[in-house]
Amino acid sequence: MSEPLTLGVAGLGTVGMGLIQLLSAHAPRLEKLLGRQVVVTGVSARSRDKARGEGFGTARWFDDPVALAKDASNTVFVELIGGEDGPAKAAIEAALHARKHVVTANKALLAKHGIALARLAEAQGVSLNFEAAVAGGIPIIKMLREALAANRVRRVYGILNGTCNFILTKMTDENRAFGDALREAQELGFAEADPSFDIGGFDAAHKLSLLICLAFGTTVAFDAIHVEGIEGITTADIEAATELGYCVKLLGVAAQTEHGIEARVSPVLVAEESALAEVSGVTNCVGIDGDFAGNLLLVGPGAGAKPTASAVASDIVDIARGLVMPPFIRPTAVLEPARPADLASRLGNYYVRLSVYDRPGAMAAIMKRMSDETVSLESIVQKKPGPVHPGQAAEPPPGAGEAAVNVILITHDTTEAAMRKALKAIEDDGQVKGRPQMIRIEDL
Ligand code: HSE
Repeated sequence: MSEPLTLGVAGLGTVGMGLIQLLSAHAPRLEKLLGRQVVVTGVSARSRDKARGEGFGTARWFDDPVALAKDASNTVFVELIGGEDGPAKAAIEAALHARKHVVTANKALLAKHGIALARLAEAQGVSLNFEAAVAGGIPIIKMLREALAANRVRRVYGILNGTCNFILTKMTDENRAFGDALREAQELGFAEADPSFDIGGFDAAHKLSLLICLAFGTTVAFDAIHVEGIEGITTADIEAATELGYCVKLLGVAAQTEHGIEARVSPVLVAEESALAEVSGVTNCVGIDGDFAGNLLLVGPGAGAKPTASAVASDIVDIARGLVMPPFIRPTAVLEPARPADLASRLGNYYVRLSVYDRPGAMAAIMKRMSDETVSLESIVQKKPGPVHPGQAAEPPPGAGEAAVNVILITHDTTEAAMRKALKAIEDDGQVKGRPQMIRIEDL
């Protein structure tokens, strides 16, 4: 039997506690699998006094995660604190400088400092593993690193935020209000400490930035991603999409194009018969289009204590087996700069919701603006003013003034540049109340 693998675990929130439970529940299994024990020798968290139950064995308490990261009692530092800077970054750097392997689930930190930390890990000859940082329990990093290593990846996409998918599913299936569904996701432990990271699309963009780097062999370029959240999605959009045979999803998409890498996180409409439409609740999915493997879709739980702990534990298993790989699959020295493509050149069809004033000529003016930009329409639906859902503002917002009705347009293929121009002109014409809603339709 080899020496036990010793862990220092910093952060005992949802994921940290999930890991402690997993290591305790599966101690005999891991020992058989690895030929050595996996032992937590030190822990650190914000509050020492919180009741945390069993599973800590003889682990020592550290008030300071950096002290834990440096302490000689562990050879692997597991960072589950979160936050893109601050103690998480200081502790990871300290661990790497001390030539310790590091496991983290911290996508925000990796999206900002991943390459610098990977360089440091490579220089020190240690691992920096982050399977749990992307899509929770789905083993997408190992999939790209191992099974798809010999492919050129053309496109990677996915439902990468469980909280948003949970909210959109609740809004669709149960007519629930946005805030109500968000509260439930928070209570269930899916949401980030600051849920604006989830609903604003930033959490999904952090994950997409890592996927781009892993799939395309580029440096991490979070700023190259166009990000839109789900805050603007209303029950009117959900209902209209459903009636037209679509489902609303927050999707991350990155594709290699002749103009560079097109990368975006935004709400999209997918056909109700698409596999993506079946991905409901906190479930995530990641699609990979490899030049030899073809199209693959991995589906699984994207958040929550157990799935995320499972991913963290898989990184620990790699280290216990002596597997040390470049953190971003390829050595950092060969990663190329990510060259972003302009989203304006995207060609596809679009959903548009306009709150149109009930006046003669309003629709004609709108049609003219569309036609001026050679945007051709597949369908036009004018809605009757509908009932208001409990707990949700009427759409468009109630108030005195001229009546307006929702008009839903679905376009044929057109460029995003043409759509933006047409919608800007429509808004400037003053025939619509508020801003036009535009949602990309994805044929995935
Ligand atoms: N807040 C994240 C989500 C957790 O909802 O997907 C996992 O990264």
